[in-house]
Amino acid sequence: MLVLEIEDIKTLISKIGYKEFYLELIKTMEEDYSNWEDFDKTPRVANHVDGGVIELMPVSNDKLYSFKYVNGHPKNPEQNKMTVMATGQLSVTATGEPLMFTEMTLLTAFRTAANSAMAAKYLAKKDSSILALIGTGAQSEFQYLAFSYIFDLKEIRYFDTDPKAMAKFAKNMAQFDVKITACKDSYDATDGADMITTCTADKRYQTVLTKDMLKKDVYINGIGGDCPGKTEIAKDIVESSTVVVEFLEQARIEGDIQQMPKDFTCTEIYEVIRGDKKLNVATHGTILFDSIGFALEDYSVLRLIYDLAKKNNVGKEMNLIPELDDVKNLFSLL
Ligand SMILES: NC(=O)c1ccc[n+]([C@@H]2O[C@H](COP(=O)([O-])OP(=O)(O)OC[C@H]3O[C@@H](n4cnc5c(N)ncnc54)[C@H](O)[C@@H]3O)[C@@H](O)[C@H]2O)c1
Repeated sequence: MLVLEIEDIKTLISKIGYKEFYLELIKTMEEDYSNWEDFDKTPRVANHVDGGVIELMPVSNDKLYSFKYVNGHPKNPEQNKMTVMATGQLSVTATGEPLMFTEMTLLTAFRTAANSAMAAKYLAKKDSSILALIGTGAQSEFQYLAFSYIFDLKEIRYFDTDPKAMAKFAKNMAQFDVKITACKDSYDATDGADMITTCTADKRYQTVLTKDMLKKDVYINGIGGDCPGKTEIAKDIVESSTVVVEFLEQARIEGDIQQMPKDFTCTEIYEVIRGDKKLNVATHGTILFDSIGFALEDYSVLRLIYDLAKKNNVGKEMNLIPELDDVKNLFSLL
């Protein structure tokens, strides 16, 4: 079984380059979302614990099965631990044979940002050039990079309640050729923005984005409202926007649409990718992509990384699954 560590993911991505990797990942996700009906889908299994959540995210089609283990503990940084940490596995559906086990903390940031940029490619105005980032923690630079390969970004306006997170963002962004503007609050950050990513972490009903901040039609990519009792977008924005989600059954439980009546319905992103529905801020006004992270995005990044690792001979084959001459003689291993 192939095992990939953080170093292996770094090696693969530095070989390929950020741009190529993001674009390839977006293409892989579009392919998988287009085959929506082929997948056995379920909302993730969430264990809610004091101060956080631990989730298992499975999905499969007739070729491959994948799952991710991921947590969300917004107060972890106070103990110098990450809010979100993840590992994942890819298996052969027909036999159940595990193929790969991998780190997924980095891969989650890449796949989340790729998913955000993929949705924005269809839903945001083509000439969007100012991106606001509210929350400059672990996910933030990944978000910028993915959007930068789809849009001609002229300015990033950013705000975080933690000045250290803002300083970290500014330092990491210095290597990229884009104007960054530190803002004093979310009002300031959203001023003039064409697209707004909210990626804050706080396990409560927050209103990071309120209606009076929206002076024109914008594209909102809400990724931090992703758990029951954890939202970011004011209810009147959800009510008045065109809303797109990944998987409605899961979004009703975990997304910002949890604030809406139980029978609330909206577009799923696969319909937009397939061209069944054409939605864009230019024609439909403000659009909210109420993203919570769906297992299919992990499936896409896992199958892409598995292919890349095999092609580039990266990772270690580890003895985690018995190989036996007589498969009924497990006892022979002892
Ligand atoms: N939708 C998805 O697919 C997906 C994937 C990964 C992470 N997430 C979610 O995205 C969020 C960010 O994840 P992360 O790994 O960057 O977490 P993080 O803890 O590293 O960063 C979150 C940042 O939000 C800031 N923050 C909290 N409240 C704020 C507010 N009101 N205004 C401005 N800033 C505020 C914090 O100070 C922190 O710096 C989390 O809620 C996480 O659960 C979603």
